[in-house]
Amino acid sequence: MKEKKKILNPVPTQEDRELDTHLRPRTLEEFIGQEKLKLQLKIAMEAAKKRDEPLDHILFFGPPGLGKTTLAHIIAREMGVNIVITTGPILERPVDLSAILTRLQEKDVLFIDEIHRLNPQTEEILYSAMEDYKLDILIGKGPSAKSLRVDLPPYTLIGASTRIGLLSAPLRARFGMNFRIGYYSPEEMEKIVKRSARILGVKIDDEGAMEIARRSRGTPRVANRLLRRVRDYAQVKKCEIITGEIAKEALELLGIDEEGLDEMDKCLLNLLVKEFDGGPVGLKTLAVALGEEEDTIEEVYEPYLIQQGFLKRTPRGRMATPRAFEYAGVKKSTQPLLWEKGGEGNDKG
Ligand SMILES: Nc1ncnc2c1ncn2[C@@H]1O[C@H](COP(=O)(O)OP(=O)(O)O)[C@@H](O)[C@H]1O
Ligand SMILES: [Mg+2]
Repeated sequence: MKEKKKILNPVPTQEDRELDTHLRPRTLEEFIGQEKLKLQLKIAMEAAKKRDEPLDHILFFGPPGLGKTTLAHIIAREMGVNIVITTGPILERPVDLSAILTRLQEKDVLFIDEIHRLNPQTEEILYSAMEDYKLDILIGKGPSAKSLRVDLPPYTLIGASTRIGLLSAPLRARFGMNFRIGYYSPEEMEKIVKRSARILGVKIDDEGAMEIARRSRGTPRVANRLLRRVRDYAQVKKCEIITGEIAKEALELLGIDEEGLDEMDKCLLNLLVKEFDGGPVGLKTLAVALGEEEDTIEEVYEPYLIQQGFLKRTPRGRMATPRAFEYAGVKKSTQPLLWEKGGEGNDKG
């Protein structure tokens, strides 16, 4: 059951991480979709190369599994520089970050994943490090402490975040380019499935690719994971090629329905519709009822349900849309319920 619940969760597992690296597009050309973003990046990279300068600092934000880390790698590769990778929560103390910064070489890319989770003191040293390539290091403690200013080589910071709302304004303002990465269309997803199948040496026809594409929440990481599961199923069934029928069977077995919703989505919608008559319901209440972390609900499940028109975030809480009622096969009751009169539902939007 746990396995079923997690199958569409785009947050990477250890197994995904290996597959991610293997299937990662290496060039902008290979990177499918996000056409506007690619064009803007291409222009920025060419201009920086012509001027013989490092690329401006870049921020990528959007749900997990859509290609933020991949883009950081591609940029470093296309610029012909090294990439140093770290993540917000690891950089507990300012010194953890300054140690990395002082070791950078000219034009290197420093990639900070989950940059919204930087400790505030660590974040503070980033400001001048980003703005004028200067690092202020505090030496000693108490009244005898001295501040030392160190020059850094011009470099490019690439930040990635799933929670743009949690990024402080001063940090955000220091990025020269901001890119929102959105979900992929079913057509783009189909291309991604076919590309991954080619790399993995899996035979799949158009219908098979489309079945997986449609049910992957517009998320390449999920598509890659489903492809692997469907491949296993096909192998057990001794099918040489993944057809639409095989893909459908395999995906249904995994508890993924026609809409690309998994058990967790279904539980969430059923709860909202059947137990709360459509809401509004506070995030906390949902989390407790579902036995899931608030963050996971907010970062992983909701964005897709909102994008697909099943759910709305309102100042008073989460609400089911008519599509959710239709999905759950329930008519909205016209009686106002007790909890509708206030109390719960004061979560931020
Ligand atoms: N535009 C794309 N085209 C092809 N594959 C992609 C694309 N975006 C992401 N992927 C695949 O999805 C996986 C997850 O991407 P990743 O960059 O790790 O996502 P994020 O960092 O946003 O969580 C990668 O291994 C890559 O194979
Ligand atoms: Mg990533």
